[in-house]
Amino acid sequence: MSQKFLVTSALPYVNGVKHLGNVIGSLLPADIYARWRRMQGHDVLAVCGTDEHGTPCELAALEEGLPVEEYAAKYHAIQKRIYEQLGLSFDHFGRTSSPQNRAITQHLFLRLWERGYVTERAIKQLYCADCQRFLPDRYVQGTCPFCGFARALGDQCESCTKLLDPTDLRDPRCAVCQRSNLQVRESKHLFLNLPKATPLVERWIATRTHWPKVTLAIAHKWLSEGLRERCITRDLRWGVPVPLDGYRDKVFYVWFDAPIGYIGISMEWADARGTPDAWQHYWKDPATRLVQFIGKDNVPFHAVTWPAVIMAADDGFVLCDMLKAFEWLNYEGGKFSTSQGRGVFSDQAVELFPADYWRYYLCVVAPEKGDSDFTWAGFQAAVNSDLANVLGNFVHRTLTFVNKAWGGVVPEAIGAGEAEAAIRKTLADAVRAVDAAMEECSFQRAVRAQRDAWAAANAYLQAKQPWHQVKTDKAAAGTTLSTCVHLSRAFAVLGSPFIPFAARQLFANLALPGAPEAEPWAKIEDWACLTGHRVSPDPRPLFTKIEDPQIAALQARFAGQERRE
Ligand code: 2FM
Ligand code: ZN
Repeated sequence: MSQKFLVTSALPYVNGVKHLGNVIGSLLPADIYARWRRMQGHDVLAVCGTDEHGTPCELAALEEGLPVEEYAAKYHAIQKRIYEQLGLSFDHFGRTSSPQNRAITQHLFLRLWERGYVTERAIKQLYCADCQRFLPDRYVQGTCPFCGFARALGDQCESCTKLLDPTDLRDPRCAVCQRSNLQVRESKHLFLNLPKATPLVERWIATRTHWPKVTLAIAHKWLSEGLRERCITRDLRWGVPVPLDGYRDKVFYVWFDAPIGYIGISMEWADARGTPDAWQHYWKDPATRLVQFIGKDNVPFHAVTWPAVIMAADDGFVLCDMLKAFEWLNYEGGKFSTSQGRGVFSDQAVELFPADYWRYYLCVVAPEKGDSDFTWAGFQAAVNSDLANVLGNFVHRTLTFVNKAWGGVVPEAIGAGEAEAAIRKTLADAVRAVDAAMEECSFQRAVRAQRDAWAAANAYLQAKQPWHQVKTDKAAAGTTLSTCVHLSRAFAVLGSPFIPFAARQLFANLALPGAPEAEPWAKIEDWACLTGHRVSPDPRPLFTKIEDPQIAALQARFAGQERRE
């Protein structure tokens, strides 16, 4: 039965270009999941977009010498293009700074306000008399009171890592103008009354028993420590304006409007296709399954604070059905580092190798059960062994031989025997294993199941030796080849959510019209649909092996000394 699915990936911050850890940490899994559900025949809306507000974005714009609006638009476009190159099939890649997100954020805030979930409080903050603005934590620089580091920021000292309050800093100065004409001023702010929403969240979390362990553990830890009121307003110009008298010169804190961005982006999608209400078809139907992919650090916002907002606003929005959190991907035993240029970033990745190489390897090392490691050796092995030697070779040998011995016309499987029954069962098991893994959002398991099936198919071909069979028993050789061609087609369809470009090339090699992603999932196992069909006389290799010297050069290039632009 067809169901509605809303699939979201954590919205990447707009500043800069994201690294491969960010890609496997939410973007790629969301895409694969959405592709899989679409192929199963479900009604899917998959959204993502850039998270554009907040001080890091303002500071990055300042550093690049661009007005923040221009800066955000520039990097939104850059990121969007890279994700298209990676084959990420979001129905819409939007922006949290859109008018739609502004409207829905303000609307939900006003509901919270009317329903008594927002508290007013006066707080003390630093104010730059020269810039005539309040300074958010990160806008204040000074000397760390603990270690004496001279360029500590108001929220944390980069040198000794101690958490700070801007008022702790010695010789504080404004990060914008670098002067020290600072004052402590009091101003009124709005706080989300999370203690009041706690019973709602507790009751709801108790029903999420099907969530992965990591997600639940973090959610329970937050709840057991007790929720505190959270300030949701900031004295900035860049952000969603607060629609309340007395606060109209303030904007919402970025973590207030960012998750609402999932809805805002769905509204953008609906507007772009000329059906402005279409987003409600998903967000306001209690039967819709909302499946969200995020990094571990985002769990509290998605498991606790955002659901608190949605429940407290009580406006009929669906809550998360599945929250899949990823741990960290390291780079060759250390951390990815933007400032030191350590590791591979998504813009470099798409220039270096076809998207599927990354997509496949990142699933192999998906940090699902703990942190995991990107290594060039592992990448090379995944591409050369699994993709090129196993899948690529199997398909190539099959199609070459069909061309050579049958003039390109797929023979019939007459007299399929035990070996054929066994390999058919292998495929059936693989499809079931992929489905079961994907139900649980386990991407490592999903690719492993396919790799095992590719290997079994290769072993079948190798054991049957149709190039010898053909000399004595052409019908038997035909059965082998027919089985292998149908397996190739099945691998294209089954692999399509994971390696969509290779899957399409495989379809082209089979000279099949249409695309593998348009094939129904239920028809993966078909052992006769191509009998009599003429395959391409010129099948292209699906993958190219990566040589050792190339890997050595890449290891050196990305070891990280140079700062990325
Ligand atoms: O951690 C991050 O990268 C955030 N930009 C994720 C936001 S997810 C959603 F809430 F917008
Ligand atoms: Zn200043």
